[in-house]
Amino acid sequence: MSLPPVIAIDGPTASGKGTVASMVAKKLGFHYLDSGALYRLVALASEKQGIDVKNGPQLGLLVPKLLISFKNGQIFLDGEDVSDAIRAEEIGLRASALAVHPEVRAALVGLQRSFRQSPGLVADGRDMASIIFPGAILKVFLTATASARAERRYKQLIAKGISVKLENLLQDLHERDARDSSRGAAPLLVADGAKVLETSDLPIDQAVKAVLDWYQSEVV
Ligand code: CDP
Repeated sequence: MSLPPVIAIDGPTASGKGTVASMVAKKLGFHYLDSGALYRLVALASEKQGIDVKNGPQLGLLVPKLLISFKNGQIFLDGEDVSDAIRAEEIGLRASALAVHPEVRAALVGLQRSFRQSPGLVADGRDMASIIFPGAILKVFLTATASARAERRYKQLIAKGISVKLENLLQDLHERDARDSSRGAAPLLVADGAKVLETSDLPIDQAVKAVLDWYQSEVV
């Protein structure tokens, strides 16, 4: 029996991949994997336990001990709803710092692949197409200029009542881009066969439509 189809959507920070991926999943009635949330969960848990972000082996051993569950769009860690806590900017930076370790990445592979269930999966992240689901039926690399992405993140945070400076966000974004792209383990890249979607001037619904159209043309 063939495995359920996967649509892999990768891209840099604040490229809109989470919004696009979850909307595509909803339209198709597919499951949705926000793989970045898993790295953020490891960031939050390891911070609570005082584990050094540079200690790859210890971080890798922590992963199988975590009790992670997803329910109705909320994320729970050891029974506690951490959906908001993992979105903090400092947790995002910590996640990107610990995502460089091969031990952490390896420990998360099985969990990510377990999301591939019928009738299908839309997965977003940095290495969905290259490492986790190389057999994805559709691979999309979503991108936008740094200033467009910083502005989006700024609006998101302001809407949540979190006060931030645009210039600080832009700086964080450059730092995260540089680290995600230059790391040895699973660097952010356009996977072989991926279609690139530039979204700086593309409204979200148009980006969703582009992905759905590509998917339809793959399945016929
Ligand atoms: O919201 P944003 O796109 O900035 O980040 P995210 O998707 O929530 O992921 C947080 C961090 O986890 C990223 O900066 C990446 O370094 C890391 N990550 C990764 O290495 N591989 C993935 N598949 C997903 C996220």
